[in-house]
Amino acid sequence: MADGTLIPVAADFAAQAHVDAAGYERLYRSSVEDPEGFWREQARAIDWIRQPTLIKETSFSAGDVHIRWFSDGTLNASVNCLDRHLPAKADKPAILWEGDEPGESRTVTWRELHDRVNRLANALKGFGVGKGDFVTIYLPVIPEVLVAMLACVRIGAVHSVVFSGFSAESLAGRVADCRAKLLITADEGHRGGRVLPLKRQADAALAGISHQVDHVVVVRRSGADVSFTPGRDHWYDEIVEAADPVCPPEEVGAEDPLFVLYTSGSTGKPKGLVHTTGGYLVHVATSWKNIFDYHDGDIHWCTADVGWVTAHSYKIYGPMLNGATIVMFEGVPTWPDHSRWWSIIEKLKVSIFYTAPTAIRSLMRDGEAPVRKHDLSSLRVLGSVGEPINPDAWTWYHRVIGGGRCPIVDNYWQTETGAVMLVPLPGATPLKPGAAAKPYFGIRPVLLDAGGKPVEGTGTGNLCFAESWPAQARTILHDHERFLNTYFSPYPGHFFSGDGAKRDEDGYYWIAGRVDDVINVSGHRLGTVELESAIGSHPAVAESAVVGFPHEIKGQGVFAYVTLKADFEETEALRQEIVDWVRRRIGPIATPDVIQWAAALPKNRAGKILRRILSKIAANDFANFGDVTTLAEPEVVNDIVERRRHAI
Ligand code: PRX
Repeated sequence: MADGTLIPVAADFAAQAHVDAAGYERLYRSSVEDPEGFWREQARAIDWIRQPTLIKETSFSAGDVHIRWFSDGTLNASVNCLDRHLPAKADKPAILWEGDEPGESRTVTWRELHDRVNRLANALKGFGVGKGDFVTIYLPVIPEVLVAMLACVRIGAVHSVVFSGFSAESLAGRVADCRAKLLITADEGHRGGRVLPLKRQADAALAGISHQVDHVVVVRRSGADVSFTPGRDHWYDEIVEAADPVCPPEEVGAEDPLFVLYTSGSTGKPKGLVHTTGGYLVHVATSWKNIFDYHDGDIHWCTADVGWVTAHSYKIYGPMLNGATIVMFEGVPTWPDHSRWWSIIEKLKVSIFYTAPTAIRSLMRDGEAPVRKHDLSSLRVLGSVGEPINPDAWTWYHRVIGGGRCPIVDNYWQTETGAVMLVPLPGATPLKPGAAAKPYFGIRPVLLDAGGKPVEGTGTGNLCFAESWPAQARTILHDHERFLNTYFSPYPGHFFSGDGAKRDEDGYYWIAGRVDDVINVSGHRLGTVELESAIGSHPAVAESAVVGFPHEIKGQGVFAYVTLKADFEETEALRQEIVDWVRRRIGPIATPDVIQWAAALPKNRAGKILRRILSKIAANDFANFGDVTTLAEPEVVNDIVERRRHAI
């Protein structure tokens, strides 16, 4: 299939869809011409305690950036996710959970979920957690993670979910940064037949920081014998059983924080992006329904781990706000065999399946046999997110998984944006394999050149947004300056995404990838500076530079150039030691794919490392290094090129 081919929307799909082509045109126009009116109407998707009268108070103007949506409204997120569904759905499934071990499964009804959330909320209150307090959640993909999130928001506390694959050190940084009052973890997690020692890592994390966490709630996942600190540690099942099952929801303001989520940036430590309640819920509830064309009875499965924004918005909040049944799967697609995902789709009759291109590329390698063993006819809509999907993977996903009949909604967005920005709506937008297509309602993308001038018509540029949207992050926790500098200073009057993009002759957007010092490994963002500081803390390392390089499965891999201190030798053992060191400090997702020794790193006369050149060398592109006149020592590059050529 040629790049750029338009695949029309099937007439029968369009006929039953929430939004068809004419609907998209009409609603999009009204959303940008009259954002107040549009979002006032969308806000009906949420049950408010006090209905908002102020809809949009926002400005991206230099010196006056402010973002407030629905600011005089009050509400409670857990009521919207749970209580309002009880009259119709109490005994229907809210969560269909599949454990790592095949055969281990649980169904949680709306009534049970509501009961657990109320009880845990009361228990948290008993530990002194209240409105505005932060709670860190470090759990595997089990129903209790959802209970924990919703229990926090029931009492107005702010959750910070940390991916269970992150190391003790990464967890420690995140606990300390938000000054969490309480931590919720599990004894152990299970993933792909392996055990994650979560409680041990949590203990190590808390021992390593001066900030004191008063209470730790521990979910018994595996029943392993784990260390327990009396007075501080509490078993989840015991406190939940003992708690009152009725917890009145706390009334919070639309602009009160709902959660903080950490993500890597181009400089320094991860940023804690703060999302607020009203705007986030309105945008996430309505966009989830539209982008996946949800109808009552659909079974939704987003494969992302709960530690990422994809899961916050479109595995948990979006579906829960719409009363949808979700699938949660604790394991990995390749264990115990490579048809695990497909067997779950067949078993649970999944109708909406949402995953990342890296997973598709990796499963594609196994061929069609593991898929053909299963009946995937329940599928209606497929989703892709996290990185550009190459047309080959798109076509395979469409043909083999979707049977040629399911639209693929490739949705582009970010931790910062909270909800979708670019997407083909499945009943409205003809598809182009690899394109994130068109702006969602209310979103005004612009491409700006390096000088900040708009690129009109077709062309490429830095992807910015000219207008605020309700789900956007409001600040970086404890660092509003960094928020303004990162997103609003590069192109005054605009929010800058950090991505480059192309607009084609049909007005479709194609994401080209990050233009800053962030790399996208298997759909996960890693800051090169963060990786360098992990490598640089190894006693043998004098200096390092990390760049991304094209990787067949991961999209981008981690390529590290390392200069050793004088007393150390460039051995294979040391190379492996540095790889393990990074895994331990950040987590397995940050594992360097290549470490290349370098006698020195190419720098300009001001001492800045020239990553542009290093990226080219990592990609085996040894020509066109661009302007090298700024290099302090040009021979350094020759040495690095020689070593790279020698290695391949
Ligand atoms: O580079 C873009 C890429 O992922 C980045 C955002 O990462 P994160 O905050 O972790 O959120 C991931 C999922 C919401 C973006 O700056 N990205 C995300 N979705 C797409 C994408 N690149 C291309 N196409 C997408 N659909």
